[in-house]
Amino acid sequence: MCTCFYFLLFPIFTPFLFQAFIKPLPLYFPRFFPVYLFPCLLYTSPMFITLEGPEGSGKTSHIPYLVEYLREKGHIVFPTREPGGTIIGEQIREVIHDLKNVEMHPRTETLLYQAARAQIVEQVIKPRLADGEIVISDRYYDSTIAYQGYGHQQDLEQVRGLVKYATGGLVPDLTILLDVDVEEGLKRKKKDNEWNRLDAYTVEFHQRVRAGYLEMVKAEPSRWVVVDAGQKWENVQEELRKLIIERLKK
Ligand code: TMP
Repeated sequence: MCTCFYFLLFPIFTPFLFQAFIKPLPLYFPRFFPVYLFPCLLYTSPMFITLEGPEGSGKTSHIPYLVEYLREKGHIVFPTREPGGTIIGEQIREVIHDLKNVEMHPRTETLLYQAARAQIVEQVIKPRLADGEIVISDRYYDSTIAYQGYGHQQDLEQVRGLVKYATGGLVPDLTILLDVDVEEGLKRKKKDNEWNRLDAYTVEFHQRVRAGYLEMVKAEPSRWVVVDAGQKWENVQEELRKLIIERLKK
């Protein structure tokens, strides 16, 4: 009799206990979804990963393969990009990157990036993390510090204050810097026909961006990992996979 009760009640209460004490289930699972039948779900925990780098570092080409790899391993992964990733953000992206907008002031540029960011943080990133997903973002606030702060030589403390306001204080768990020589990166970007208004800034601007990134790595070594993006594409992809898997195990 007792055993009978146990088998009846177990499927009903386990998801409840799981959701209450261990982690929230992604919203698209019904409340009584029998998670214990799918052990891989027990191992997905939220993680916010950002990829950064100077122009032509290859972030954008690596992300889809990383996502596919992690999904094959049973993780729930959501890729996104900045600026963009929401309807509002993609509209802002067009304004910022339009080669015709040559008169855009660095402060205007800085604020537009923050507007797009506030939207994606609230509309996409925070809800996905709350659902226990891994979010991988192609650029995040470190790009603002590197490009608008170091690149345009604006007051770093003011820029940091703005990004904190835009993100509501959401800091990535892991940030990977795909580091590449500036001239090599710009050459790659020109070849791929992806030239935008920011790429057209001087080489000295892009040198300051890269130097800025390297300073940020030194200042916060526990969040950053540097990967040499000058290597063969396959080697970079392998290194990225390894280091993300390592972090997920921690
Ligand atoms: P990408 O998507 O090709 O990397 O282009 C994004 C461009 O926007 C790139 O030139 C870096 C720049 N950018 C900033 O200057 N500040 C920012 O905060 C972000 C997210 C991007």
